[in-house]
Amino acid sequence: MKIVQYAERGNPVDVVKVLEVDAPSAGPGEVVLDVLASPINPSDVLTVTGDYGILPPLPAYCGNEGVGRVASLGEGVEDIAVGQQVFLPVGAGTWRQQITAKAAEIVPVPPGTDPLQMAMLTINPPTAYLMLRDFVRLEPGDWVIQNASNSGVGRYVIQLAAAQGAKSINIVRRAELADELKAMGADAVVVEGPGMSKEVREITGGAPVKLGLDAIGGDSTLALGDCLTDDGVVVNYGLLSGEPCKLSSAATIFHDVTLRGFWLARWFRNAPIGERMAVVTEIAGRIATGELVAAVDSTYDLDHISDALARSMAGSRDGKVLVTPNGPIDSQV
Ligand SMILES: NC(=O)c1ccc[n+]([C@@H]2O[C@H](COP(=O)([O-])OP(=O)(O)OC[C@H]3O[C@@H](n4cnc5c(N)ncnc54)[C@H](OP(=O)(O)O)[C@@H]3O)[C@@H](O)[C@H]2O)c1
Repeated sequence: MKIVQYAERGNPVDVVKVLEVDAPSAGPGEVVLDVLASPINPSDVLTVTGDYGILPPLPAYCGNEGVGRVASLGEGVEDIAVGQQVFLPVGAGTWRQQITAKAAEIVPVPPGTDPLQMAMLTINPPTAYLMLRDFVRLEPGDWVIQNASNSGVGRYVIQLAAAQGAKSINIVRRAELADELKAMGADAVVVEGPGMSKEVREITGGAPVKLGLDAIGGDSTLALGDCLTDDGVVVNYGLLSGEPCKLSSAATIFHDVTLRGFWLARWFRNAPIGERMAVVTEIAGRIATGELVAAVDSTYDLDHISDALARSMAGSRDGKVLVTPNGPIDSQV
């Protein structure tokens, strides 16, 4: 079977390779899964380049989440059926054709749901959900502002904010995205640039903006901070520009705006299992009903992993890039 591996850190397009290895077999209490779909997230790229918060020893396998289908059962495994769609073990190197998993830890995918959408469940939707929940108490009608708003996380933020009655201002760097984001629940879409805080005040009519979500850093953090009300909170969760976060003295001194960070890996490490399950179950339900959707730009098989990585790192995409290691998955739903 094919598996994606890298033996040195660097540009993923150059260092990531596809290897042919023996297919796994299911030991006692295990299952073998055919991998159906797994997204390429910015954190996958940062892990290969060596810029992520936690780095595996080399050589390492790529891919952290996704959906698979049970291919075979090991000794003693009951209550799981061959052919059933299940979530892949998180962080297990999911860009491969087959993977083993402990049967006791298998979580089934809700029947009849889109495997591509479900493959993106574990990382981006909880990030959006928790950032809206855990930093500022947002009442119906309250405003939240974010940058990189057409990203996977950004689109979940738009949908989740709208669902709880909060209003979102969404900063993008391409004006043509406005209609699409408004159709999914964005109240306002603003193109990044000078004079943004004035435009934001006009949009809100001077109502306070309590929360700013920042995936970019540098001057984009600065611009978000200048849009916030007294005691507002900027939550930095991404490093898309590679620049350190900035806040103006006006924001910090005159408005007591604070900068916080969010990393889902820390939340997963610290949150009790019951809370983790509750959040993931709630999100799975919302994806299943179509309330939460991520745009999909393209899917690639493993033979085209370099093209997939290059596409995932390119700007102006129409959504997420996923690998489908066993071929296009429409016919497998
Ligand atoms: N902290 C956490 O726990 C956590 C969890 C999940 C995700 N994240 C982070 O969240 C961010 C979004 O992830 P994702 O999977 O949603 O991304 P994604 O769907 O791959 O989208 C990336 C988006 O970023 C925009 N972008 C890229 N570089 C930019 C720059 N320098 N300035 C402005 N916009 C830029 C692109 O906009 P264009 O369309 O204009 O090119 C694109 O919309 C990433 O930084 C990721 O690492 C963090």
